[in-house]
Amino acid sequence: MTQDSIWARGLTKTYQGDRKTGDIVAVASIDLSVAPGEFYGFLGPNGAGKSTTIKMLTGLLRPTAGRIVIAGHDLAADPLAAKRVFGVLPEDLNLYERLTAGEFLVFAAQMYGLPRAEARRRADELLHLMELGDAGDKMIVDFSMGMKKKTALAGAMIHEPRVLFLDEPFNGIDPLSARKIRDVLRRRTEEGATVFFSSHVLDVVEKLCTRVAIIAQGRLVGEGTLDDLRASTHDTSLEEIFVHLVAPPALNNGGDGEDDAPPHPAPPELGAGGRSSSLQSGAGGP
Ligand SMILES: Nc1ncnc2c1ncn2[C@@H]1O[C@H](COP(=O)(O)OP(=O)(O)OP(=O)(O)O)[C@@H](O)[C@H]1O
Ligand SMILES: [Mg+2]
Repeated sequence: MTQDSIWARGLTKTYQGDRKTGDIVAVASIDLSVAPGEFYGFLGPNGAGKSTTIKMLTGLLRPTAGRIVIAGHDLAADPLAAKRVFGVLPEDLNLYERLTAGEFLVFAAQMYGLPRAEARRRADELLHLMELGDAGDKMIVDFSMGMKKKTALAGAMIHEPRVLFLDEPFNGIDPLSARKIRDVLRRRTEEGATVFFSSHVLDVVEKLCTRVAIIAQGRLVGEGTLDDLRASTHDTSLEEIFVHLVAPPALNNGGDGEDDAPPHPAPPELGAGGRSSSLQSGAGGP
């Protein structure tokens, strides 16, 4: 059985399109292996397949093909066991907006089997952490967007899961709260939890992540530590690496008119195998 916190092979999602568009391959045979304690960044342009992947990894969307094992639990064969060990901040938050934030968090905690007193204690702690202490008695429907996201994030963390899937956790969060959340997540990874998060905020990813995967048009086009990616692309910043790997070759090569730049591997070629070298080495049965 795999020791990975997150293990996926051949993960694929095809959305049914109409006659004009045809079927949309949102995610095409992705392999992932993420170890305990990793802070793993999942990057890609809009529409690349990040949210679709996170939805499949958390059982919110059934894959067209592929297998997922979370902390040793096969998601398809034993979804309840798998769902006990992770928390998720989904793209569309999935909050019960007629509850107060406090009620929602206690409800979420009790769904995971926590006794009421412990649920209340953790809810208060997380409301304080998210700077929502004063709003704990207000209905979520009256919250700002950022407050809703912080409530959903608290809900994902309420049972102190070993694995956290977060879809754009820092988008719309004020800098002070973002810093607090980063510190808490980092502490959780130091204690052995795994954080898998998608983001467009590259400097946060650069600061936090032990490893990064970059997806474009449903395929992995790069994966590894920042040093791995620097070495394979000859770029230094994550922004340069990102542009290098996901932008069309014409955009990559043009613009600055520098002819002596190292040749840019085209994303489709890199992505054709759907895996980078570190993924290949991790291939095989769980
Ligand atoms: N319910 C759906 N039905 C049909 N196509 C969909 C559906 N959801 C997503 N898609 C398509 O799947 C592809 C991947 O979308 P996804 O939401 O996973 O992208 P993303 O990487 O999360 O983008 P963003 O950065 O904008 O959040 C896109 O082409 C999108 O149009
Ligand atoms: Mg998304």
